[in-house]
Amino acid sequence: MMLRNWLAKTLSARAPAASEAALSVAAVSRRALSPAALSPAALVLLLASCGSPPEPGVPQPPPAPSPPLPPVAESELRPVAAFASLAEGPTRSQALFSEMARVLLHPRCVNCHVQGESPAQGDYLELHDPPVVRGEEGRGVVGMECSTCHQDRNLQLSRVPGAVGWRLPPAEMAWEGKSPAELCAQLKDPARNGQRGLAELIEHSRRDALVAWGWQPGFDRRPPPGTQAEFAALVAAWVESGAACPDSSVPAPPAAAQTAAWSTP
Ligand code: HEC
Ligand code: HEC
Repeated sequence: MMLRNWLAKTLSARAPAASEAALSVAAVSRRALSPAALSPAALVLLLASCGSPPEPGVPQPPPAPSPPLPPVAESELRPVAAFASLAEGPTRSQALFSEMARVLLHPRCVNCHVQGESPAQGDYLELHDPPVVRGEEGRGVVGMECSTCHQDRNLQLSRVPGAVGWRLPPAEMAWEGKSPAELCAQLKDPARNGQRGLAELIEHSRRDALVAWGWQPGFDRRPPPGTQAEFAALVAAWVESGAACPDSSVPAPPAAAQTAAWSTP
């Protein structure tokens, strides 16, 4: 029974990663051909030119491409300033969310924001060892409470990670296997975000002890990219830009970390 659970867990943890990669590849190649690849400015140009077809032989200006974002290392986040090159509006907002998603969907966060009854560990969402279950309020069950092992700080010798209030989030806050578009819709849905407004989301990102732990995970655990302050600044900029969600057919901007975190088996 336990083995079956473990297998199901492992498979379900890996399948979305593979399909995510496939989806991105498909989306990239589709994008090259589809009108979705055209920037709003190019669409306006196109529509405007519908009425008066261009004179044959007159050279037409190429459609204005949206400026690409600067490349970023796997361990870093693009600062808010890097998004200034995108026109104000949904495109910039969507790009900001995709950058936030590099943190939100990182294993340090998803190991707690799991589907199902048990936390995960490591970089590939392995089932927590020893087996534990969420219990009431996410704090485990009598005899196997999180606080039996997890303290309010990381423990060096036993390798047990810890922070104040260590527990699983409620099941409706599961992010495991979600695309950036799905995750975005969920974060804005009061029924699935703990009745938080967007201002509270910024505050949680900036100050919460469990979020902070992600960047102080102890031992050889890999932190999410950037810093907590940079992450919170992205969340604030996303909210300010209208909190638009990425289109489900549009892949997140390419960053080494994403492919590493989402598509490596
Ligand atoms: C019997 C002790 C024990 C109990 C009880 C326990 N844990 Fe753990 N937990 C550990 C140990 C040890 C590790 C470190 C494993 C490693 O990294 O080798 C760990 C790791 C984790 C991690 C992985 C961190 C990461 O990103 O790799 C999470 C998440 C976690 N525990 C959550 C919980 C939650 C939530 C509960 C309560 C529902 C809980 N644990 C109960 C011992 C325990
Ligand atoms: C030890 C488990 C644990 C870890 C690790 C963890 N979280 Fe959470 N998270 C929680 C709990 C518990 C809640 C629910 C808190 C509440 O509602 O008061 C939560 C809620 C949240 C929320 C609010 C939910 C929403 O939909 O608005 C956000 C945002 C969040 N976490 C971000 C993160 C990020 C980013 C990371 C990684 C850097 C992370 N968390 C890592 C346990 C964890």
